[in-house]
This record gives sequence, structure tokens and C-alpha cells, in this order.
Amino acid sequence: MRRSFGPGSAPLRGTVYVPGDKSLSHRAVLFSAVADGATRVAGVLDSADVRSTIAAVRILGAHVDLAEQPDGSLGGEIRGWGSTCPAAWELVVDCGNSGTTCRLLMGVLASWPISVTLIGDESLSRRPMRRVTEPLTEMGATFEMAEGGTLPITMKGCARLTGIDYRAPVASAQVKTAILLAGLNANGTTRVTEPALSRDHTERLLPAYGVNVHVDPEHCSASVRGPAVATAAGEIVVPRDPSSAAFLIVAGLLVPGSRVVLPGVSLNETRTGFLRVLERMGADIEVVPWPETGAERVGEMIVRHTPVLHATTISAAEIPALVDEVPILALAASLAQGETRFESVGELRVKESDRLAAIVDGLGAMGVRVWADGDALVVHGGPSLRGAVLDSLGDHRLAMTWAVAGLVANAPVQVDGFEAVDVSYPRFVADLTALMTSSQ
Ligand code: S3P
Repeated sequence: MRRSFGPGSAPLRGTVYVPGDKSLSHRAVLFSAVADGATRVAGVLDSADVRSTIAAVRILGAHVDLAEQPDGSLGGEIRGWGSTCPAAWELVVDCGNSGTTCRLLMGVLASWPISVTLIGDESLSRRPMRRVTEPLTEMGATFEMAEGGTLPITMKGCARLTGIDYRAPVASAQVKTAILLAGLNANGTTRVTEPALSRDHTERLLPAYGVNVHVDPEHCSASVRGPAVATAAGEIVVPRDPSSAAFLIVAGLLVPGSRVVLPGVSLNETRTGFLRVLERMGADIEVVPWPETGAERVGEMIVRHTPVLHATTISAAEIPALVDEVPILALAASLAQGETRFESVGELRVKESDRLAAIVDGLGAMGVRVWADGDALVVHGGPSLRGAVLDSLGDHRLAMTWAVAGLVANAPVQVDGFEAVDVSYPRFVADLTALMTSSQ
């Protein structure tokens, strides 16, 4: 579907409740499915990606009774399979576009003595899976997979795994979580050490299911001791997604006259690197933390139009905490004064699309001087953006980045494949339109 945005947006004014956090929604559903007993969940994101996880855990034997709530989220009860394995021997699970569904499930399935084949859409079928199969193989699981280390993958679990002390070559919360979940059914300690700390939702959420996770933030490591049985948690309330908020935040900063309020958003520091970068660029963003009630910090973000942003350098160490926000930050950089450099963003090549190439092509088509310098991304800020016809490449975060670009370009930006937004933010256009038409 082609959709046109801009130019010359009305000021964005008002309050938007962005949807539930995608990473936490996957985890709330999956951990509840793994646990013994019934867990109540609220605020779960209703999007294509999370629906992939819900469908997968249903096939594997969990009872999921979730209904749409007035705010569009999913809430209800999930009864996990606990220590019971599915009766079927040969199962096929379609993970759709969702890397999180696929990689986290591999950790769970590693210790099930049945055969499960994981498949996915075209994008997911191109993404690297050896980063998960290699450590799980070391733990004792076996796999058959396509040449090149991609889906489809048939997992042949092993009833009892052995704990490992794994040094991950890349900071990846999906890899870390897969290994820790496998560690629950492994003998001894399973430890994952990362080159930099990736999002830490798993470490924060597993204790609610009675699982002890030992974290050593100084060394970027987390470990569990197995065998350990997860038990149903009290109610899990998923905060709103900072990665979805980022699109409205940058739109609010760039569109003259805007003031956007975003309540109930996760302030988890392993996710809010983009706020620190935007503040360094001079952005007018106020963050008001709410009283702490759970394992994740939550608060309200208030964004005001900022006429002048300044370029900055984003170091390699900062990337894991903003890895999903590079496309929208690159857009902000393209209208900032000076040259912005994102170090070590090679991981962008293996996201839902090759985001590094897509940013260079897309911003380039709008007249921005932008290039990849090895694994770094360099964006030269300028006074304006030209209209263009851009492709989402089936990537939700590109679709929303190009939509925001359209609001501030000097001619319309047409986005092909805009329906990709359904992966993480199906109500994106409705929320944006509400901000444009609000009388506040
Ligand atoms: C995610 C981890 C990140 C992120 C993805 C969600 C998660 O991927 O890009 O959108 O929920 O664990 P990597 O683990 O590949 O960095």
C-alpha cells in the first residue's frame, strides 16, 4: 500500500498513548506460556509481531485468553504449559516477521525432545540464526537449517541441556534471552556476557516468574541456575513502547508549533539511548518519571518543537540502547546543524531490512548528504528535505521514519509498503492524525 505524507504538517499538539512495548509484550506472553499456572497480563501490544508469539505459544500448548481493551491493548490470562511438553512430535511454527518470536522460542525449544520447524516471512528467512543455534548447540540442542544459517530451522531438542559460560560476539537481547531461557532447563549455571549491555527486560521480568537471575552490570553479564521451573507471575503490566514513542518525539521536535505529551512510556535506560542523544542535540524533551511500581521505570515524555538541533557523535557503546531508533535519529540528524556520526551500526544490516543501506538510499533520495563509512553511518545536516517516493522494504521502522520525513519535507513523501507499520504500531497514522487535528 502506498501512502502519502505531508508536506507542511499542522503543528502536532496533544496527548497520545502509544502502544505497549513490543519487547516486553513478547516476553510477557512467552514467559507466561513457559510458566506453571495462569498469569494475568495487561497492556500487551496488539500487533502482527506479538500475534506471531501468541499464535506460536498456542500451537505449543499454552492457553491464551486475551481480549482487546478500550485502549487497544490486549489483556487477560495466559495459562502456561509448565513442565508438560506438547503431545505432538512434529510441529510447524510460523514466526512471521518477528525475530524476537523466533529467537526466543529457540531457547525454549532447545530442551524439548520433539521436533519443531520454525518458519518465517521473506525478511525473517534472510536473518542470521547461527548466533542462537551455535550457543544452543554447545548446550546440547540439535538443529537442521537452511544453508547460510537461516530459516527454516528444525529444532530437535535435548531433554537435558548443560549450562555454558557464553561470551556473545554481539550485544543482542534476543540471543541473551534465548540462552537464558535454555538455561532454565540446563544443568548448572548458564551465563551470557555481552560486549555491551543490550536491553535488560528478560533479567527484570524473569524474577516475577520465580526465576532468579544474577546480573553483573559492570561486566554486562547475566546468569541463571538450572534446572529451574518458572511459575505463574502476579499481574504483568506492560508499559508503553519508547521505540514507538521515538517517531512521535522526532515529529514533535521537527514540526513547528508542536507540543506532544506521551504518558506511561517505559524509561528503561537500556532502551532510552535515543533520548540522551536527542537531548545532546539540543532537543526540548521533558521526562517526568512516575512513582516506581514494577521492575520497569515508567514516566511521561513532553516534547516541544525545537527550531535548531545540533549534530553529535553516537559512540559504539551507546548503540545497543538505541539500536531500533537509528533510522528516526538519522532523520533528525539530516535537519540538524553539522555532521552526525553513528559508530558501529553494522547490526542494522541484519534487522527487518538492511537498514543501513535503506537509510543511505532513503535520506539520499531526499537530498541529504549521507553515507556509510564501513560500519559507521554519517549524516550531514541540511536546511530542508526534498519529497520522494520511498519504500518501507517491508520494515515497520522505515515506514514510520519516511512518514515523519514527509511531514517536514518540502514536497510529499510517498511510502510504498506502508502496511509494514502493523508489525509494531498499527495505529500510527490514527495517532499522528489525532495530534495534527487536536485543538490543544
Ligand atoms: C529485541 C532486541 C533487539 C531489537 C529488536 C527487539 C528484543 O534485537 O532490535 O527489535 O526484544 O529482544 P537484537 O537482539 O537482534 O539486537
